[in-house]
Amino acid sequence: MNENMMNDQTLIVTGGAGFIGANFVHFWIKKTGQTVVNLDKLTYAGNPENLELLKGDGRHHLTVGDIGDQGLVSSLLKAHRPWAIVNFAAESHVDRSISAPDAFIQTNVVGTFNLIHEATTYWKALNEEEKTRFRFLHVSTDEVYGSLEKDDPPFTETTPYAPNSPYSASKAASDHLVRAFHHTYGLPTLTTNCSNNYGPYQFPEKLIPLVIHRALQRKPIPVYGDGLNIRDWLYVEDHCAAIKTVLMQGTPGEVYNIGGNNEITNINIVRTICRLLDEQLSPEVGFSHESLITFVSDRPGHDRRYAINAGKIETRLGWNPLETFETGIRKTVRWYLDHPQWVENITSGAYQKWIQTNYEDRK
Ligand code: NAD
Ligand code: TYD
Repeated sequence: MNENMMNDQTLIVTGGAGFIGANFVHFWIKKTGQTVVNLDKLTYAGNPENLELLKGDGRHHLTVGDIGDQGLVSSLLKAHRPWAIVNFAAESHVDRSISAPDAFIQTNVVGTFNLIHEATTYWKALNEEEKTRFRFLHVSTDEVYGSLEKDDPPFTETTPYAPNSPYSASKAASDHLVRAFHHTYGLPTLTTNCSNNYGPYQFPEKLIPLVIHRALQRKPIPVYGDGLNIRDWLYVEDHCAAIKTVLMQGTPGEVYNIGGNNEITNINIVRTICRLLDEQLSPEVGFSHESLITFVSDRPGHDRRYAINAGKIETRLGWNPLETFETGIRKTVRWYLDHPQWVENITSGAYQKWIQTNYEDRK
């Protein structure tokens, strides 16, 4: 192959050592056999152990670095000549964005700008046929649409943006950059806005793995506010399949909402996990994990409800989730029970400090 040609068998994934990114790298290699060049800064949320099963597999290359590093991104593009870039890299936790928003602006806004800018330079130098085939897929969140009231219809792709946290505002800014690069330069972009994910390899700062971890340690399970906030939960592998569908079949310049049709209150999520743990661990008579539930003071600016209308990706591209919440949460609880070492490694050190910072002042 001519060294200036685009390589149809190579994808660049950013943030592929994090929760969804790592699940996607496994999914993509299994389903397509293509090579993945994984650019990840390995922040607290990036964990090479998430990619342990690919050790020695020549189809996965991890490069430790920042999407905001212009020289590095440019040289990776020149060296690997990917047919697509999938951007997962981000600071992703709302509570951290409240206590320390700087990194969110740096990575989610400035970093995404650098990545798409370099991608555009690379793309402009491709021949016409390659330019048409190239894709830049930006992975985003439903949180950019803001908060719904109880009876509001779910978010569609045309719901106006109304981000409420530094996290969602930074993701909204990156979505706007992606839109602008398509509109101005013609870069073949795709944006996906997905609801809350859960599944293997999720860092236990997020609700579901946090609850499992705390319950196993028999420590109080913190529920913010009245516990009646609603999220629309999707099993991570269904999200990966949706991204693959959009990458292969989506129309450049378009946005696709992804969701699981599982609107559940936080308290019901927590109770379900407690019930599954009671069942799986058959604890002593008289003990229920639910007794650990503790209501604590609310998150500032806490969005009440998110819900996704996934009609566009379902009808136009034929994607549907395979897991119900009941099947997905069973698999997830089982995975955490079967991987105590992964949990142990990730929750030592800096994790303890975060738990102290986020929870010590909550009453
Ligand atoms: P995560 O926090 O688990 O992982 C993020 C990854 O990005 C980590 O591996 C981290 O090391 C890496 N990273 C951070 N800054 C970087 C930088 N400057 N350069 C390179 N790598 C960097 O996040 P996640 O939950 O896997 O989310 C992935 C993406 O999906 C994010 O863009 C997030 O906004 C989006 N999303 C997440 C959810 C969810 O429920 N988790 C839902 C919808 C959308
Ligand atoms: P989270 O997993 O942080 O995702 P997001 O804020 O991006 O939706 O939180 C999910 C829901 O769970 C959210 O309404 C906040 C709530 N929550 C708690 O009640 N207790 C906790 O300890 C955490 C981390 C979250």
